[in-house]
Amino acid sequence: MEQAIGVIDSGVGGLTVVHELMRQLPKEPLIYVGDTARCPYGPRTEEEVKQYTWEMVRFLLKKNIKMLVIACNTATAFTIKDLKEKLDIPVIGVIKPGARAAIKSTENNHVGIIGTEGTIRSGAYRHALRKIKPDIEVISLACPSLAPMVEKGILDGPEARQVVETALTPLLEHDAMDTLILGCTHYPLLKKTIQEVMGEKITVISSSEETARETSTTLDIHQNFNYNDSIPPHQFYTTGDLEKFIEITQKIFRDSNFEMLTIKHADLT
Ligand code: DGL
Repeated sequence: MEQAIGVIDSGVGGLTVVHELMRQLPKEPLIYVGDTARCPYGPRTEEEVKQYTWEMVRFLLKKNIKMLVIACNTATAFTIKDLKEKLDIPVIGVIKPGARAAIKSTENNHVGIIGTEGTIRSGAYRHALRKIKPDIEVISLACPSLAPMVEKGILDGPEARQVVETALTPLLEHDAMDTLILGCTHYPLLKKTIQEVMGEKITVISSSEETARETSTTLDIHQNFNYNDSIPPHQFYTTGDLEKFIEITQKIFRDSNFEMLTIKHADLT
């Protein structure tokens, strides 16, 4: 069997990265784990996030993955250093790609970031942005209400609008900001509403496109593309409610030709 790329998230958010990986790398088999049962990771301690992330990673290592994509900003913020040091397969997170995409987009050097409490508290985005561009202005805001709403499958409509509006209000006073990073992989599922609330002059970016590009480059460097014509089915695992997971997955992939082939409960602990 061809080796797959492993992708992890606290829940359904990482599927936004999967969507882009499928678009840019259609021949690569993927194995996804969403730790829906313990989502959200945002309010959890660094220790908890590390432990849960390692459980998902060990599960994927048993499946002989050739590369790991941490499709969760919170897990990236707290574990990427450790994972890169300890694993002998390439590891890609979403924060550096998100920072690069924002730097590419901003015209006036004022970038906003929204993410979970954990991601914002870690300062990982500020660090990643300033490492590339030391004088960049960074405005950060934790939005703890958004990921749990997405996990419930509320992606648009009046409730989504109201929750997003309340969460983003503190950002509206920052007139200079021209770019907003969706620093949580759940947020691209609310992108339309976020864009409406922020207004047209703000460029709203997610890191998924840049993350998929980095994945592709890394496969190239390691000469590890799947050259076979037969692609094994993608596998999607959830630790939580299977019905709910399928329902949200179908919403995310509704405009594409990708078929959800296997969805199982994972037993991580
Ligand atoms: N999707 C995750 C992220 O990118 C977090 C959501 C959560 O579990 O709080 O940070």
